[in-house]
Amino acid sequence: MTTTLYGPVFRADPHAVYRTMREEAPVHRVELAGGVEAWLITRYDDAKAALTDPRLVKGVLHPPNRMGIPADVHSAITHHMLSADPPDHTRLRRLVSATFTPRRIDALRPRITELTGELLDAMHGLGEADLIETFAFPLPIAVISELLGVPVEDRDSFRDWSNLVTSPGERRAESPRAVLALHGYVQELIARKRKAPGDDLLSGMLAVRDDGDRLTEDELASTVFLLLIAGHETTVNLIANGAYRLLETRERWVELRARRELLPSAIEEFLRFDSPVQTSTHRVSTAPLTIGGVDVPAGATVLISLLSANMDGARYPDPEHLRLSRTGTPHLAFGHGIHYCLGAPLARLEAQIAFTGLLDRFPELRMAFSPAELTWRPGALIHGLEALPVSGL
Ligand code: HEM
Repeated sequence: MTTTLYGPVFRADPHAVYRTMREEAPVHRVELAGGVEAWLITRYDDAKAALTDPRLVKGVLHPPNRMGIPADVHSAITHHMLSADPPDHTRLRRLVSATFTPRRIDALRPRITELTGELLDAMHGLGEADLIETFAFPLPIAVISELLGVPVEDRDSFRDWSNLVTSPGERRAESPRAVLALHGYVQELIARKRKAPGDDLLSGMLAVRDDGDRLTEDELASTVFLLLIAGHETTVNLIANGAYRLLETRERWVELRARRELLPSAIEEFLRFDSPVQTSTHRVSTAPLTIGGVDVPAGATVLISLLSANMDGARYPDPEHLRLSRTGTPHLAFGHGIHYCLGAPLARLEAQIAFTGLLDRFPELRMAFSPAELTWRPGALIHGLEALPVSGL
């Protein structure tokens, strides 16, 4: 039997839908948008095993082109590690990791603090606003611009195209044009950095040489797109989902204001409880395999629900109770295995600075809607709220 997921019941309470699946059909056949059939893994142990199973691969060199982008541009922006299997994956990841180092990320701390401060200043005095629109959404794009070395005078255009490329809903219809514009800009930026390198990640990626090997033009442009997309919506929702959970039960907000030492474990708990990447990107089975006692044929599309795995009672005592000080089994919100999130240290740093800023600047922050009005965004990939109206600004 195939279930159509992600309808209104799911959007009101995805945790409840996954709870039933884990109990009744932990490897579940689902129909995704566009009629694609997939096998969805929902338990923690099965998820972790699947993420390191060499029989589950990306398979296609390029993900499907669903947005109607010209084929040559589509191919030029999808030559990146997240769509590659070893040995291509190993090579791409090595070349990018050589310059996307902990030192580079740590060096961004003062700029992220400044960028956060500017956004918080602009919110001051608004009274009420959507915290996603005013804060959680703009911050990660500003940080990625900084990381890549987008010159200040280009930041507004870069932000506008990036907003369109990464935004959900009806604005996505405008995306193909934005993808083309952004691709053109990225090519131009690469040419400029080649002539006049700076102290940024893009210049770093241009300089990396490994036994004579280096990133090609398409691989560079693709990696810029990957960083933008993988680093944006995810971080938006870590900040917004976490802020929602702090305000939903306001004692949490008060507790975290008083006990800042809990912030690191609180961020891990937000990642576990409301994993922004709801399901992994797809895998394809290269051979028949058995997952959680269910036979999956060769050639099947397999998805792993990180959100569900992270709520599995077999691994987390009292999983539906959010505890700011929780320790124990690490979550799978950043994935596991060879595709483990390359940007995890940056995401954690951004979240630390963002929550510190909110807690310091807006002690009276409150939710400006009732939980009954809350809706989660549709779709299989991202777990995030449509909006987060707050007061106390
Ligand atoms: C991969 C989650 C932020 C860059 C992944 C994967 C997950 C993930 C689950 C693996 C997907 C799969 O196996 O199908 C997250 C979350 C974030 C976040 C929850 C924020 C809270 C970032 C940031 C960056 C980034 C800020 C960089 C700017 C990447 C890259 C990959 C990746 C490059 C591909 C790694 C590979 O294929 O080897 N991320 N991510 N991510 N992420 Fe993140």
